[in-house]
Amino acid sequence: ETDISSKYKYFQDQGLRQLPSALIIGVKKGGTRALLEFIRIHPDIRAAGNEVHFFDKNYVKGFQWYRSFMPPTLEGQQTIEKTPSYFVTKEAPKRVNHMNPSTKLLVVVRNPVTRAISDYTQAISKRPDMKKFESLVFINGTIGNLIDTSWGPIKLGMYARYLSRWLKYFPLSQFLFVSGERLIYDPAAELHRVQNFLGLKQVVNEKHFYFNATKGFPCLFKSEGHSAPHCLGKTKGRNHPKIDRVVLQRLKDFYRPFNNRFYQMTGINFGWS
Ligand code: A3P
Repeated sequence: ETDISSKYKYFQDQGLRQLPSALIIGVKKGGTRALLEFIRIHPDIRAAGNEVHFFDKNYVKGFQWYRSFMPPTLEGQQTIEKTPSYFVTKEAPKRVNHMNPSTKLLVVVRNPVTRAISDYTQAISKRPDMKKFESLVFINGTIGNLIDTSWGPIKLGMYARYLSRWLKYFPLSQFLFVSGERLIYDPAAELHRVQNFLGLKQVVNEKHFYFNATKGFPCLFKSEGHSAPHCLGKTKGRNHPKIDRVVLQRLKDFYRPFNNRFYQMTGINFGWS
């Protein structure tokens, strides 16, 4: 008898877990954790806590496997998940479309030069023996040589390339491009756009945020699981190394055409160039 009731409980619980109706697909180091933590304050949003990596690494495990990572929802609640590598995974657009062609797609984008430095800063924190940023940027490590577009931190900033793959499967109207810069200096304004895009009541607003001068980033007064004010963890908002100004200019020039193409595709000028 206990067996039957626990099975029933399992099925009942499974029924309450929904595949996501919206995904934060990227970009890596754009501010994806901040966006997820901020939007999940909303009572009508339920989110998978960790990156599930379903559409890149775990797709063979199937949709039931994926769904089991989602929190239970009540009627009217939306489920969301974030894994930033989806944006740059070749097969992801087709796979997400196969799950649900009306999936809403959120992309946090950030100046690709800053994003590259952020990506590098994360990498060197795990591998302190890495070469300097300035030498990894160029083929053969020499300033003046061509930029090494096969190096992850550089490659991932060519947003237009990745977006064109997604646009083969989803109309532009199903995307929301969140400014990673504005998410830092005016989080409430970006969250207003996000809530609007997701068809939510405006709940998350300026009252939820305060600027923590020590951290140099917006933090939350309270949120799910925290009653006290808190910031994102130590791995979010790292100090970046100071990069040679000539190298920065080379990178800015390198990204300009890709940025302009991305502005054209999205209809938004992010002001990076
Ligand atoms: P840095 O650590 O290089 O500053 P992601 O979550 O996609 O990995 O992005 C990490 C980046 O989010 C951080 O990069 C930081 O600049 C940015 N960010 C945006 N809002 C933030 C916040 N409120 N607190 C900390 N980092 C934030």
